Parts: sequence; structure tokens; C-alpha cells
Amino acid sequence: MSTFLQDHARTHMCGELREADVGETVTLMGWVDTHRDLGRLTFVDLRDRTGVTQLRFDPHHAEEIHDTADELRSEWCIAVVGEVVSRGANKNPDLPTGDVEVLPEKLQVFSRSKTPPFVIEDDPDTTEENRLRHRYLDLRRQPLQEAMLTRSETNGLTRNYLLDNGFVEFETPVLTRSTPEGARDYLVPSRIHPAKFYALPQSPQLFKQLLMISGFDRYFQIVKCFRDEDLRADRQPEFTQIDMEMSFVTPEDVIEVCEGLMASIFEGIHDIDVQPPFERMSYDEAMARFGMDNPDLRFGMEIVDISEAVADSEFRVFSGTVADGGVVRGLRVEGGVDKFSRAEIEELEDFVGVYGAKGLAWVKVKDDDWSGPIANFIAEDERAAIKEQMGAESGDLLMFVAAGTDVVCPALGHLREKLGDQLDLIDDEQFRFCWITDFPMFEEVDGELQPMHHPFTAPHPDDMDRLDGDPLDIRTQAYDLVLNGHEIGGGSIRIHRRDIQSKVFDLLGMSEEEAREKFGFLLDALEYGTPPHGGIAFGMDRLVMILTGADSIRQVIAFPKTTRAADLMAEAPGRVDDDQLEELHLRTVVDEDSD
Ligand code: AMO
Ligand code: AMP
Repeated sequence: MSTFLQDHARTHMCGELREADVGETVTLMGWVDTHRDLGRLTFVDLRDRTGVTQLRFDPHHAEEIHDTADELRSEWCIAVVGEVVSRGANKNPDLPTGDVEVLPEKLQVFSRSKTPPFVIEDDPDTTEENRLRHRYLDLRRQPLQEAMLTRSETNGLTRNYLLDNGFVEFETPVLTRSTPEGARDYLVPSRIHPAKFYALPQSPQLFKQLLMISGFDRYFQIVKCFRDEDLRADRQPEFTQIDMEMSFVTPEDVIEVCEGLMASIFEGIHDIDVQPPFERMSYDEAMARFGMDNPDLRFGMEIVDISEAVADSEFRVFSGTVADGGVVRGLRVEGGVDKFSRAEIEELEDFVGVYGAKGLAWVKVKDDDWSGPIANFIAEDERAAIKEQMGAESGDLLMFVAAGTDVVCPALGHLREKLGDQLDLIDDEQFRFCWITDFPMFEEVDGELQPMHHPFTAPHPDDMDRLDGDPLDIRTQAYDLVLNGHEIGGGSIRIHRRDIQSKVFDLLGMSEEEAREKFGFLLDALEYGTPPHGGIAFGMDRLVMILTGADSIRQVIAFPKTTRAADLMAEAPGRVDDDQLEELHLRTVVDEDSD
């Protein structure tokens, strides 16, 4: 006996039928989206990834399938064969297929469904945890289906653009050695080599550089990277990079290729011309104007430095901070006088406290009358200077933080973002790109020098002679691409000289032996005719998040992890058998149930 599928090929997808198809006999397959019993008539919306088509089961038309049609319930997987008819006066203008419906004469139930743990709809009334546990059902929801399709399209556009531009696609190892990108490694124990571990790549950084040394000229890979770090809305422990590397290039060359890639993706997905070349800003400028190196340029409210104006202020918090080498900077909330109560400002004060600010000084400007706790301490000439610098007008609320730049920048930078959001200043329709350049080579973390990007980043040509001076003064040839306040990509020109690479390891406090132990293969390779080279990696998940308007990268990853790095559906991470541990020469030292 033949099966239904052997006898009937699907003729259309559920989102395809239009008025022009009326009169045709079609075969559709999909899931019961909704099921309505109207006395003798039964209406079913049949759904697949392209949309829904209404089915009308009418006993006058096909008596023999009517009992089965009555039994149908949400999420059953079925097929129908039937004629496309016009809906006449009952058209549904909200549905692409709303002009027509199908009158089934055959009905095949492939499989029934239990009642799903939540309704498959755009905005289900359930927890994210419940959805993640049943991700295969969650992924049936239209917003997620659309996100996955956009992701697939973005992949395709990327691949086409890069192949067209002479890039060669590679696959680099997943079981490898540590590649430092500032996070902890995920480790994989070796069975064959007791007490030895592979590290999953934080990025393919070293391999792509080696491929330049091998002469491939232009490399790309759409690749999973693994980082054990604190998770947030735009960070996952495993995520995808569009990873690129090019030989014989300047930053300008890399930037040009990337702008072309972005133009091609945005054109392909949204039919938008993003109009390269993109805006550029040095790291120092971004920090001064926006308090962060990933500024959201969709709104203004820039940070203003008033240190000079208040250097001699009677308000000791201000003058004292300036005298100690700190700064006083502020934000102007246009028309903010009526928008914030004292209690609400106190909440903002708590907010900046998280970034180390000891307080949030504020004044409300009403004509020449300034009010607020510090108003009386600000002299006339100081007021005039502040007003002028901040462009303040009657009705504005001015807020200030006094401290070192290490506190003032993040405090005001995040306050600016919060206010932008709260006051609805952000135009959601805009895509604002910006390159951030001239990053410092190193930063000090807990008194130790660390690379701001990774230790293979080349110093700025103008700063080469500073390698023997204060390392904190050295800038690099690194560039980040920021889109709507998210760092969507980062890269640099690399060090291609063995002596300079050794010097950088030395500055990082890494002995020659340690450098050899960790990166011996790279140091060796650098001695065999290394071309000057550079590249970049884009965060694919972040890019697709912005393309789809999602507010977390979890929404654009098919099987994401929670903020505690767990896969709730597969229940990973999980325990393993004692036998397996033994084979791997491992013993755990915590209780079974400690979690
Ligand atoms: P970087 O560490 O800046 O550079 O990473 C490149 C881009 O990857 C994205 N990204 C992440 N996305 C989601 N979850 C994460 N945990 C996560 N971490 C990073 C960001 C980021 O801009 N090897 C270098 C690139 C190079 O120099 O060519 C690198 O990995 O969007
Ligand atoms: P105080 O003199 O500590 O009572 O503070 C008076 C006002 O100054 C309060 O509104 C504080 O929030 C604010 N303030 C205190 N320290 C700082 C600081 N470092 N930066 C900005 N405002 C501050």
C-alpha cells in the first residue's frame, strides 16, 4: 500500500495562495493553527513557515472526512487536498491569503499533538523559561520563524558578498588551544592525553592569522565562538561570528569591505541604503561625548564637561574633585523640570551609584531661578558658564557627576542611555552606524596591564616609538563597528613582526617561556615571511537582533542558553557517568547536588 506522501506531493506552501489560484486543486501540509467549530462547518487555519491558509470543512462537500475534521486540535500535523475557492464577501484583508480558502476533499492526519504547554501565538502568556524548555514549539511562533529566516538570509547575503569579493571560506578547529579574547575558556578533557585539555576557541583569531601567513590572502568563516563570561541580553556563551582576515591591507581597506558587507545585508533584508562611508569617532571622543565606546547615536543628549567652570566653586564636591585631578560632567535633560520628581531623581542617583558615582548633583533651571540641593552654592558667573556650555534653557534639568573619568564616563554614559529610553528619545526606525578608532592598546584592570582587544593588535604607526614609554599611552590600529549602541564588530591590523609581538607579550608581563608555551606556533610562523594583515569579526547574533528589532540575542538563536549558561531543553550542562569520568582521568570534588 502506498503512503499519503507517495500519492500526494505538496503543491503550495500555506502562505502562497491568492485569488488567481481559485479553481485549482491543491495539496497543503502543515499544522493546525486554530480550529473553529461553527455548527456543521469547521474552519481550520493551516500553518507552515510561510503563513496560514483557511480550510473550510463542509459536510455537504466531503462527508467522509468531516468526523476527522471535527477531531482536529491545535498543533496537529496534517495534510489536505482540496479546491481553492474565493471567500467572496468574507475576505480577510489582514491575511495575505485572506481572499481565498480551501475546501478539503481529503484529509490526512500525520500526527496528533498533546495540548501544548503554551499557546503558539505572537505573544504567549507564559514564562521565557517555559518557552525555552519547549523551544521546538516556541520556534513555531511567527516572530521566531521570521527571525530564523532573517538569520538564514543574512548568512546567505554575507557568504555571497564575501565570495564575490575574493574571500575564501575556511573551517578552523573547535578542539584547540586557548585563544585569548578576554573571557574564560570552555575546556574539553582529553581521554588520550591524561590531565590535558583542549580549549574551545574564543575566536579563530590565531588560525586566521596563520592562513594569511599561508598565503590565502582573504579568509572568512561564519563560525561558533565560545566564551565563559557573564551573560547579558547581547551575550551568549556560544555565539556566531562573521570572521574575516585580509593580507596587505590598511584599516581603510578593511573598513571599506565591511561597509560594503553591511550595505549588502541591509539592502537585502530591509531594502535600505545605509549610505557608507559611516561616521567615525576616536575612542577618546566617544568616551568624552557619550561616556562609552559603543554610543547610541540615534539621540543627542551629549555629555558636557564643566570642570573648568566650577574649578573654584563654593560647592566643594565640584571644586575639590577638580583640584584632585577629577572632572565634573553633566547631562542636560531638555524640558526635564516637569518630568522628574525629587524621588525619581533619587532613583537616578542610585542608578549612577552602581557605576561608582558618589552622588548625582542636579539643578532645575527656571528662567534665572535655579533650584535643587546645590543651586545655592553655584555662583552667578558659574551659572552663566554652565548655561552657555550646556545650552541650557528655562525648563531644563541639569545633572552632574564629579569624580575621575573612570567613574564619570560609565555613570553618565549609562544614565544617558537610560534617559534616552525612558524619555522615548530613540527613533526605532533608524540604523546609526559608527566606527570607533584609535583605541588604547592596554587598559589597567586591578592594577594589571591587559590588552584592550587582544594581544595581536598592532600599535598605531604614530605610537611605535612609545613602546618603550608608558604603555597606557599607546594607541592601536583597532576599529569597532557600533550600530544603535551595540558593538557589532571589532577588528584591527595585526602585529606581523616577531620582535614586536614579543615586546607586547613582554609588556603584558608574559615571560618568553610563557609566550612560547601558549603561542609558540604563532611566534614560529611569524618568522617565515608574514604579510602585513588585518581583519575583523562581526557578532552575527547581535547583527540579526538589530535587523529583526529583537531586544535580546536569545530571540535570534535557535537554541539559546539562559543567563546561567544552561540549555533548559536539552538540560545541558548535565552530569556524566563515573565510567566516563574515569576514562577522562577526572574526578569531581563537589557534591552531586550542588548547583
Ligand atoms: P571581539 O571579541 O570584539 O573580537 O568579537 C567580535 C564580535 O563578536 C561579538 N561578540 C559576542 N556576541 C555574542 N555573545 C558574546 N559573548 C560575544 N562576544 C563577542 C561582538 C563583537 O564585536 N578575534 C577578534 C576579532 C578580530 O580582531 O578580528 C574578536 O573576537 O559583536
Ligand atoms: P552632599 O554635599 O554630600 O549632601 O551632596 C549634595 C548633593 O551633591 C547631593 O545631591 C549629592 O547627590 C550630590 N553629590 C555628592 N557627591 C557627588 C559627586 N561626586 N558628584 C555629583 N554629585 C554629588
